[in-house]
Amino acid sequence: MPDLVSHPDEVRVVSRRFGKGATSLDHYLELDGYKAVQKALGMGPDAIVNEVKNSNLRGRGGAGFSTGMKWSFVPKQSAKPKYVLCNGDESEPGTCKDRLILEHDPHSVIEGVMIAALAVGAHTGYIYIRGEYRYLSIIMQKAIADAYGRGFLGKNIFGSGYDLDVHWHGGAGAYEVGEESALMESLEGKRGIPRIRPPFPAVVGLWGGPTVINNVETLASVPHIILGGSQWFADLGTPKNGGTRLFCMSGHLERPGVYELPMGYNLKKMISDVAGGIPNGRKLKAVTPGGSSTPVLTADECDVGMDFDQLMKAGSMLGSGGVVVLDDSTCMVTYAQRIMYFYQHESCGWCIPCREGTDWLKKTLTRFHAGGGVEKDIDNIQYLSENMLGRTFCPLGDAAAMPTISIVKKFRKEFEDHLEGRPCPFESKGVVEQLPVLA
Ligand SMILES: Cc1cc2nc3c(=O)[nH]c(=O)nc-3n(C[C@H](O)[C@H](O)[C@H](O)COP(=O)(O)O)c2cc1C
Ligand code: SF4
Repeated sequence: MPDLVSHPDEVRVVSRRFGKGATSLDHYLELDGYKAVQKALGMGPDAIVNEVKNSNLRGRGGAGFSTGMKWSFVPKQSAKPKYVLCNGDESEPGTCKDRLILEHDPHSVIEGVMIAALAVGAHTGYIYIRGEYRYLSIIMQKAIADAYGRGFLGKNIFGSGYDLDVHWHGGAGAYEVGEESALMESLEGKRGIPRIRPPFPAVVGLWGGPTVINNVETLASVPHIILGGSQWFADLGTPKNGGTRLFCMSGHLERPGVYELPMGYNLKKMISDVAGGIPNGRKLKAVTPGGSSTPVLTADECDVGMDFDQLMKAGSMLGSGGVVVLDDSTCMVTYAQRIMYFYQHESCGWCIPCREGTDWLKKTLTRFHAGGGVEKDIDNIQYLSENMLGRTFCPLGDAAAMPTISIVKKFRKEFEDHLEGRPCPFESKGVVEQLPVLA
């Protein structure tokens, strides 16, 4: 996948400074950097929250919750310190957008954390970056040090009398730690497993203090909203889905890459036009529209606007914006197997339906693909997945179940074609054969 791609339909907001040397603080300042936080200092907390609320910005980490609304849940008075956390654990297969923001525009993330802190009255922020993004951690650590060096962070920021510290924290490499409460556990130095909710982080979060946690792309959008205005941002998208989205387009495409398009952009057009269509004269078979945890869409279901509400209506989710395109050479049994290998490996093991369910599904799908399947397995794969749904401690169990259910329901015939010891009709190697290291 090339580092940076472009298309005339792109609307560059979050990616505006990509490729422009904005990792340098001086270049960032030349490109309107740190103007938004200075404006926010003069606005006051309520006005910032309202501006973000009115922009219709919804969380880019997956769930799509209103960012301004989330900030408004933080109590104004608190005996314990408040915190802002930036979730840079990006691990959902198919998703590689936060990576680009951290690489090309790290100060926009710091600035977003600062504005969120002003909005909720926090004096400490953390930018948590997944362990495998070591090179991005180095970029972020330097950006934070540079901001301190100019007096933009620390005591009395911009001469306002407001003290604000922002720290980097590195993960150890676990998908589960992207789940917000597990991230807090990890940040506190504990094993990264989720917490019981309620209470929610806005009230009881990091070290028991009220905490806002947002995704990298969400926070990087905030300075643009403060400078451009909520109406401008809202108008870029569709009703209740403000702004643009970094869509990570991968799979069987002529021009894969991360494209910034308005919310609601048509998926079919995204595939055929923006990403150049399917190579080698092949046909579209299926699309994972929002990262590996989202239900797949068939080729016939792809005439849909890519926003949270339209995709929900179409039976899937916008999730983290990871669009994985599959052509008609793809074996959907292998695809289901590949997805389950990931979730089984990443299950933290805390609760039984996920720990045992993902393991059972992985083993069954592997046996099935290798020609050892019986008809009853097909219903069992679906039944077990349906019984994981909503019955696990955190949404990782759902994330494993949802794509599997959709694949069995929509591509049942492909499962049937693998029965009675018949070889895979697509001549696809199973995951074990492709990646022996995971066996
Ligand atoms: C298993 C799991 C992994 C997650 N991984 C991430 C992640 O890597 N990055 C992220 O921003 N959100 C991730 N989330 C969602 C977070 O829990 C949380 O909703 C998000 O950080 C909130 O930010 P937002 O409102 O800006 O989207 C994950 C959730 C689950 C259940
Ligand atoms: S659903 Fe999976 S990842 Fe989440 S707590 Fe249970 S075992 Fe851990």
